[in-house]
Amino acid sequence: MGQGTPGGLNRPRGDGKPGDSSDKKDKKFEPAAPPSRVGRKQRKQKGPEAAARLPTVTPLSKCKLRLLKLERIKDYLLMEEEFVTSQERLKPQEEKAEEDRSKVDDLRGSPMSVGNLEELIDENHAIVSSSVGPEYYVSILSFVNKDQLEPGCAILMHNKVLSVVGLLQDEVDPMVSVMKVEKAPLESYADIGGLDAQIQEIKEAVELPLTHPELYEDIGIKPPKGVILYGEPGTGKTLLAKAVANSTSATFLRVVGSELIQKYLGDGPKLVRELFRVADDLSPSIVFIDEIDAVGTKRYDAHSGGEREIQRTMLELLNQLDGFDSRGDVKVILATNRIESLDPALLRPGRIDRKIEFPLPDIKTRRRIFQIHTSRMTLADDVNLEEFVMTKDEFSGADIKAICTEAGLLALRERRMKVTHGDFKKAKEKVMFKKKEGVPEGLYM
Ligand SMILES: Nc1ncnc2c1ncn2[C@@H]1O[C@H](COP(=O)(O)OP(=O)(O)OP(=O)(O)O)[C@@H](O)[C@H]1O
Ligand SMILES: [Mg+2]
Repeated sequence: MGQGTPGGLNRPRGDGKPGDSSDKKDKKFEPAAPPSRVGRKQRKQKGPEAAARLPTVTPLSKCKLRLLKLERIKDYLLMEEEFVTSQERLKPQEEKAEEDRSKVDDLRGSPMSVGNLEELIDENHAIVSSSVGPEYYVSILSFVNKDQLEPGCAILMHNKVLSVVGLLQDEVDPMVSVMKVEKAPLESYADIGGLDAQIQEIKEAVELPLTHPELYEDIGIKPPKGVILYGEPGTGKTLLAKAVANSTSATFLRVVGSELIQKYLGDGPKLVRELFRVADDLSPSIVFIDEIDAVGTKRYDAHSGGEREIQRTMLELLNQLDGFDSRGDVKVILATNRIESLDPALLRPGRIDRKIEFPLPDIKTRRRIFQIHTSRMTLADDVNLEEFVMTKDEFSGADIKAICTEAGLLALRERRMKVTHGDFKKAKEKVMFKKKEGVPEGLYM
């Protein structure tokens, strides 16, 4: 198409006019070489500018979006594929694990006995002891996590060959965690009639050191380690301890003295140790040991092994009372109704400093206790509680509660909605009679 165009833009050589010397030589017409490109004169390109310019691609955004979408779909499909394959791969594994587990269970046997690891001999052997009887040299099964084993920890042993088959992870003795009061008791200071001095004293000795230890530091004295509540039965000792538990946010550990007496030698002292260790861990805490006379009786020549064990339990208690730092956030409340039978060592200053006596209620207190216990009862108009408040008979708080309950029951028996004065009179006689005789009515019919 460009052929024959006269005067091409760039001729290869000379002017190429016909009649030139070279043309003559060839004697043949040779058209001029076609131009490499046709159109406007190309502008001279500048180096860097040209390099930076990108080729234009159209259309722009739609393609990109489609690409992204496809990529996503691909990802999703990949994921799905992986899921399906692993589903196939894992399923038989689960079954296998189940099989393995049942094998391990077979090896472990059941029931398993609980013992103590005394010593690790080598990778696969150890010396163990159970609470009964002697120590054994046994093997440790391969599936037991050996990193967790340490002398003194609780282990599970096969019931026949006694080899170590497991480890009891929980460090805290389950007995102790039972003692922790999870729910605060419902009784509060408002439910206690009278006993103002006692309440103040227990607040000073137990609550204040926990909430404001700096006060004691300022004055330069050590706060008491604990208090002992003593007095006649039914005068509100347990009630006050419950109210303390209710009012503080401290951990409250409650034990009854008889719980510290254990079947096997050494278990009682161990429980005491464990109790105080837990109290320390969960501090600030209050340890309440009710009916302490079960373990805290005077030491005398014990004849039976059992008695000696009880004394050892008490010695451990003494040791623990000495052991922990008095500034530590552990307070001890003991309660008993026979303080004279307790070992003097337990009560000496430095151990249990404060002794709080709970006397039988006086007239004012009696009135208050009657008010508390009758506040939720429907009373007839003729009821005159003053008569019982002023009586010369000796009542404890528990007796007063019993009278109120009994009167309510009498009214209930006759299907009356209101409790009358007569009911209270009968109830009082009944309660006093039972108290004097100490024998329930109708036992010797
Ligand atoms: N001051 C009091 N105010 C109100 N209720 C009281 C009072 N004292 C005793 N009670 C009633 O008597 C019941 C028994 O009291 P509590 O269990 O505290 O006796 P205790 O002193 O622990 O006796 P024990 O030495 O036999 O263990 C309480 O549940 C409470 O209802
Ligand atoms: Mg009690």
